[in-house]
Order: sequence, then structure tokens, then C-alpha cells
Amino acid sequence: MTRRLALLATVLAAGVSLPGFPGLPISSPALAATLTISCGAVAMEYRVCREGVQAWERETGHNVTVIPAPNSSTERLALYQQILSGGTSDIDVFQIDVYWPGLLAGGLMDLSPYAQDAVAEHFPASIANNTVEGRLVAMPWFGDAGLLYYRKDLLEKYGKSVPTTWQELTSTAEAVQRSERLDGQPHLWGFVFQARAYEGLTCVALEWVASFGGGMFIASDGEISIDNPAAEQALALAASWIGHIAPVGVLNYTEEESRRVFQSGNAVFMRNWPYAWALVNGEDSTVRDKVGVAHLPRGADGAPAGGTLGGWQLAVARNTIYPREAADLVLYLTGRAEQKRRAIRASFNPTIPALYRDPDVLAAVPFLEKLRDTFDMTFARPSGVTGTRYPQVSQAIFTRIHAALSGHSTSRETIATLARDLKALRRDGW
Ligand code: GLC
Repeated sequence: MTRRLALLATVLAAGVSLPGFPGLPISSPALAATLTISCGAVAMEYRVCREGVQAWERETGHNVTVIPAPNSSTERLALYQQILSGGTSDIDVFQIDVYWPGLLAGGLMDLSPYAQDAVAEHFPASIANNTVEGRLVAMPWFGDAGLLYYRKDLLEKYGKSVPTTWQELTSTAEAVQRSERLDGQPHLWGFVFQARAYEGLTCVALEWVASFGGGMFIASDGEISIDNPAAEQALALAASWIGHIAPVGVLNYTEEESRRVFQSGNAVFMRNWPYAWALVNGEDSTVRDKVGVAHLPRGADGAPAGGTLGGWQLAVARNTIYPREAADLVLYLTGRAEQKRRAIRASFNPTIPALYRDPDVLAAVPFLEKLRDTFDMTFARPSGVTGTRYPQVSQAIFTRIHAALSGHSTSRETIATLARDLKALRRDGW
């Protein structure tokens, strides 16, 4: 409250006039709210969020402070849980991950009364994901699915095709890396991805395991399914990449570290989310116009190929003192015009199906059309079935997988220990 009043006083002192009401200060307490939104800050994310917020401020006369959130989904969840568990919230609007609605629902406002017209515009699955016990606790903002980025120029130079299996990716990465190094590119690596011990590694490991036919760690009925030969094979192949076609540094890479290596021309392949597209094709990118995007490979014939489902939503704190204004901001930012702008400017995948037919959007992000099925064929993390236990489930997954990638345990030991960890967590419920 004190902070809000101080901010309000500053704006009032500036004496800005409201258009159409000469002399009436824009920040008159009766008219103007002072809100705070916590936005992601991965690469352009914070800037692009601010631009949208500023447009809403101009339209409404309200004031918004934009606070950058930690990049790691794991760290951000812990922070938001802490903020929302207190009685009051200094943050009115939160950007929440696709698997958080169930975890945070108690602290979030039901947006249904404000969102009636908007709901039908979004993918029904996204609305369903954000509806907890009949309450619409968030509006979808952008979708994510894991993708394979590759260097078109290098594959062409060595007569290689875009790999459709992980084994092919491994051999192409090895061959191109070897030849390029001999050709004067000592820093070139075959493959970069996210292997730090955090939520991103759970997403990546799910892609490996599921695409080898090894299931999703935990089946939809709650049974622990990770202890199987296909999962072991997937993990053994991934572990063999470290220090071979992937730098040992990947063990500490999140999305941005991977992108920087790829964008500076030092990797043949990269696993990342759609946001990287706008950046690798940016004016300052070494690999501009040299990049293609494809489905992630599969590990075994007949196994499903796809990327992990990700994505972000906007939610309002239940105890905000500005419910109406905060909901209006959320609807503006998640609305069609703003989602279109964000897709073109920063390749954030819309959550509004009509935008996938919009020629301006498709010209800016061509893979939206080409890889349309990737966004339908995604692997969902086992967050629904494990409920409030999911953060611990994910932590067990990324900790054990990280140990295997670091060479501290074999893939057999890792899979067996992980299965034991998950069983122990299950004893306390799901
Ligand atoms: C992306 C995804 C999100 C996921 C995160 C992991 O931001 O959208 O769902 O949890 O990456 O790093």
C-alpha cells in the first residue's frame, strides 16, 4: 500500500492531464490504478512485455510497474509461492508456467466474470489447463513446444539431411563438428541444449525418454513407469553426448546459454523453444537466415516424436486491491492484437488459433504453419497426475538425470534410483 501510494503521489505531482478532461489529473485516485506485473525476462521477453503494458497504460491512464522475474521456472515458482502464501501481495499480475495453475490456484483470482468474451478465442485445451475446480485462474499468453534448430548452411555444405532420429543427429553432429574443426572452426559443437539441474532439464529429458518409447516418467494413472529399457537407452545416448558433441558446459546451460552458443555460430543443432527463432534471425545474429527449425527427432521406430509442452499464462493475485483493472490488463495483454504483435516481434506462439492463419504472423514465424502438428503432438509433464507433489517429482527427475549426464551414475543406476525416489514421493500421496 505504502509503495502504491508513494508511486501515486509521484504521478499526481507530475500533474498529467486526462485526455478529454482538461485539468483532471490522469492519476486521480478515483480513476487511475497503480498495478505491478511480474513478467519473464528471458532475452527480449521483459522488453516486449513492457511495450504491451505501456500501450495499455496509454489507453487506460493507469500506471503499471513491470518487475522482471527470475529466468528459471524452478526458482520463479518458489518465489511466487512465497509471495502468494503471504496475506497481501505486492504483485497484482503474475506470469505463470503451464504446469502451475493447480499449484497456485488458491492465491489467484477467478477471471471468468471478466473473460467471458475472450475465452472462446483461445485453444480450448489452454483454457481447460487454466481452469481449476471451475475457476479460470489464468489466461493463456503464449504456448511453447520443444523444437530442433539446425544450421541449414552446414548441413548443406556436408550433404546431410535434417535428422529424424537421435542416432542420426548424433552421427551428423559428430561428422560436421569434426570437419568444421579441421576447417578452422575450433569452437564448433554438434549439439547444445538445456542440461542444468532445473525444470528445463525435466522438459528435455521427457523428450528423450518419450521419443524412445520409454513413456512419460509417470503414467496417467499415477503408476511410475520410468524403469524400462527404452528410457535407459535414451539416457545412455544423451549421456554419451557430453564432452563429445556437446560441451561439458551444457551441464550448466539453461535456454539462454544454449541460444547464445548457437547464435554466435558455434553449434550445428540446438534444442530450444520458439522464442529463439526471432533472436537467431535478429540483425545482430551471426546465423541470421542460416537456421532451419524441425521436429525433435525420435529414438525408436514407431515411438512418438514431439516436444515437451510449455507455455505461459497471466494470472491475477486473489487479494489484489485492483481486481477489475488487473483483469483488464491481463485481457489486453492476452488479447488478439497484442498476441499478434508479440508473435511477429519475438516469435511467441499465440494461444489463439485464428492467429495461426494470419499471413503477417506466418510470414514472421514460418514454422508455425510447417510444424503445426508439433504444437498438437506435445509431451505433457506429469504435473496433472502428481498435483502439488509435482515440484518434488520434477526435482527428483532433474537431479538424477543431471547426475547421469555428469557421469556420476550409469543410466541403469539412474533409472533405478529415480524410480525409487518417485515411489517414495508417491507414498505421501497422488
Ligand atoms: C519454457 C516453457 C516452460 C518450461 C520452461 C523450462 O519457458 O514454456 O513451460 O517450464 O521453459 O525451462
